[in-house]
Amino acid sequence: MKLVCGGWRRFLWCLPLLFIVSHLLSGGLRPDLSIEEVPKKGKNKFDRLVLGPATGQGLPNRLHCQGVKALNRTRYSSSRPRAEARERTTFVTVFTIYNGSLDVRGSGGSSDRVVVGRSSYNRVERSMAILTVFFNFIQVTMPQSDVVILTDPASDLSVTREGVFVHPIEGEYSRDKLMLQRIRSYIAFLDEEQRNVSPDQIHNYIFTDSDIAVVDDLNSVFRDFQDFHLALTFRNNKNQPLNSGFIAVRGTPEGINRARMFLKEVLEAYISRYSSASRMLGDQLALAWVVKFHASFDLKRFTKPQAFVEKVGGASVLFLPCAVYNWTPPEGAGQFHGMPLDVKVVHFKGSRKRLMLESWNYYNSSGSMADMLCLILGSGRTKYDF
Ligand SMILES: *[C@@H]1O[C@H](CO)[C@@H](O)[C@H](O)[C@H]1NC(C)=O
Ligand SMILES: *[C@@H]1O[C@H](CO)[C@@H](O)[C@H](O)[C@H]1NC(C)=O
Ligand SMILES: *[C@@H]1O[C@H](CO)[C@@H](O)[C@H](O)[C@H]1NC(C)=O
Repeated sequence: MKLVCGGWRRFLWCLPLLFIVSHLLSGGLRPDLSIEEVPKKGKNKFDRLVLGPATGQGLPNRLHCQGVKALNRTRYSSSRPRAEARERTTFVTVFTIYNGSLDVRGSGGSSDRVVVGRSSYNRVERSMAILTVFFNFIQVTMPQSDVVILTDPASDLSVTREGVFVHPIEGEYSRDKLMLQRIRSYIAFLDEEQRNVSPDQIHNYIFTDSDIAVVDDLNSVFRDFQDFHLALTFRNNKNQPLNSGFIAVRGTPEGINRARMFLKEVLEAYISRYSSASRMLGDQLALAWVVKFHASFDLKRFTKPQAFVEKVGGASVLFLPCAVYNWTPPEGAGQFHGMPLDVKVVHFKGSRKRLMLESWNYYNSSGSMADMLCLILGSGRTKYDF
């Protein structure tokens, strides 16, 4: 509650500085704003892009912007190193959709439709649109990667796209069990992969939420840091230092095995300690519990956004700063120092899903990843209706 109020106050504080981006974006990207009535949504949730101030200006190694124009030349526009052929990255995400049960409220009803750019979406279409944009970014920044979608065999999910594979795994995918099931599905997937490890081709894995944009090549994680089995992202947050939305696993037999054992421990901690936690938080709390239980390092290391490797139980765990590998503007009153120039993953948590689609549309029409990051930097603290 405290966080929400803090955020709201800050929001009011920023209000005079807010302005609507459509006036800024010339070139017919959003020719006309049709302001929809969105029934029963919080008053402060916007149905169009709204920009606040871009923070971090004047700080070194932060992205500097003028409106939605990037002032720094970043690597995104230049040519990127090709992934070594022996190592590939497979993204793995859990996603389900049910055309009857997911949304009795409005999978078809026009009252629940939301317009982004020139498209209109019902609830199911919104989830699919997010998944599609997730693929789109990966295809741009890591074109040699595959995506595996772990899903309920009963789900009606069908995706026909090159490099994307739907992989049903039995389980209980109801909304309130989804975070628990997600860990189970990860483990089941790694169990299968362990039997198929090939000595000629290493498939590294990155398990992620689907509401992320990969904005730079992540193969570098496996190249630049040699000695880890799995990687987690951390932030300076005492109670929730780890985010479960990004887990990288080295695709060697040892890496897969250590990651399986680690995740099994997280699953046990979740069941025994956090079953009653909110459906969103249980896995993060369990993850933090396992790390704190085994770790022999000073937890103060989580306060500095610098990568480090430490043993956790038998596993070598690479801790990566959320600031670069899982960037999201802090909610509420958290201090906000802009966006690092080397950001690689943007996470559109909570009420930022509209921004994810708008960002893709903007990138798609402008061709500039850096400008798109300015759009996200300016708009990331706005709450959207979708
Ligand atoms: C980014 O651009 C700003 C504004 O032009 C400049 O002051 C800053 O030094 C640049 N940062 C880097 C690392 O180049
Ligand atoms: C889900 O949708 C598909 C196609 O729209 C339809 O063929 C199928 O029967 C539906 N399934 C259920 C359970 O309603
Ligand atoms: C934008 O989208 C179109 C149609 O999907 C695609 O052909 C084009 O390559 C995209 N542009 C960029 C910069 O991704």
